[in-house]
Amino acid sequence: MLSPELNDRLTRVGPGTPMGQLLRRYWMPVAGISEFNDRSLKHIRLLGEDLVLYKDLTGGFGLLDRHCAHRRADLSLGMVEAQGVRCHYHGWQFNAQGQCIHQPFEDTAHPERNSKERIRATAYPVELKAGLVWAYMGPLPAPQLPDWEAFSWANGFTQIVISEVPCNWFQCQENSIDPVHFEWMHENWGNRQRTGEVKYGAKHLELDFKEFEFGFTYHRIKENTTSADEAWTVGRVCLWPNGFFLGEHFEWRVPIDDHNTLSITWKYTRVPREREPYVQGQIPTWYGPVLDAQGKWIDTHVMNQDFLAWVGQGVIADRSLEQLSASDRGIVAMRRRFFEELDALENGQEPKGLIRDPLQNVQVPLPMVYGDQVTQSRTRAEIAAHPTLKAFYTSYIFQAGQPDWVKQLASEALGFQVGEFDGVVVPRQA
Ligand code: FES
Ligand SMILES: [Fe+2]
Repeated sequence: MLSPELNDRLTRVGPGTPMGQLLRRYWMPVAGISEFNDRSLKHIRLLGEDLVLYKDLTGGFGLLDRHCAHRRADLSLGMVEAQGVRCHYHGWQFNAQGQCIHQPFEDTAHPERNSKERIRATAYPVELKAGLVWAYMGPLPAPQLPDWEAFSWANGFTQIVISEVPCNWFQCQENSIDPVHFEWMHENWGNRQRTGEVKYGAKHLELDFKEFEFGFTYHRIKENTTSADEAWTVGRVCLWPNGFFLGEHFEWRVPIDDHNTLSITWKYTRVPREREPYVQGQIPTWYGPVLDAQGKWIDTHVMNQDFLAWVGQGVIADRSLEQLSASDRGIVAMRRRFFEELDALENGQEPKGLIRDPLQNVQVPLPMVYGDQVTQSRTRAEIAAHPTLKAFYTSYIFQAGQPDWVKQLASEALGFQVGEFDGVVVPRQA
């Protein structure tokens, strides 16, 4: 249970808020690079700020205040130039640093004043990695954009899936350190929704949580696993400050504002040996719907089920009314770490998990449960015969609505016919 004041401290992310300041110290994924194949401007809202993300005529990306520094027109309706964006109202042009570099009328009628020199818009650094566009909104110099080892895995078909979830980011991130929900939400409830059967999967017997440089790991023993299983010896990663790493995929919960979260998934699938060597041309990005055609929340896929839990907790979960219990030890540890980090930042200390040295930022490994299943070369026959791997090759089990063009790309890459997931979620196993 938390007081409303402490709940605000964890959840509010706007400019000037304590958590807003902390999160601004980290690079955030904000879009897929491939989204800019056929568009050059996109308005985004990030940590409560309205911004325009663009790719200019020379292929450079930038992130600026959405509203023009002149009289506030919407720059996302503007046009890109060789350098930066030009406003559609009076033609002022801004570069990636936010500097106004052209004022058409003023530069023509009063060139001697060079008044554009004094005009600066809010601008944030942008970097590209792993098929994603990343933004950094904190004080400079920016830390390194983490080069997680997974981003360099070869012979993979990777896809990026994005959804907007109408609730606060922190309850989404608490899901990254919540092992027991898998048994109940994804196995038992998911199965009930899908089949109507009254049936319960293996129970959790023991949990453990550990902290490391880049977050926490959670560890489980279930009725059907032992302390020798990697689910206990390695664990899954609650990635600091707003990610989740499960081996073959990352999830990030990026705050749009206090009331909305951008869920971004980066999913790698190793192609079967028959397809090697495989080099992916471009990582596709698709937007996963949260509602079906009838306006009902989708509950058939893993993350759609998670979204329902998060949204069900309220737009901002009221933590003054909760009753934490033994399964919530990880959540307690994570909140405590956030409170400590918020205090430390106010005292001028460097936040947790930042990488400053470029030499240390090379294929940074993370703990990875069942890692060999993810990166090992296997034949199609071996994949087809594996108890839990095949579903990853014949469907996208994490979210509903994978577009046909992505299914087509995945089918070609994987050599399996990829369709919509239409089964029951089963836990991965050794
Ligand atoms: S409002 Fe943008 S140039 Fe005038
Ligand atoms: Fe989940």
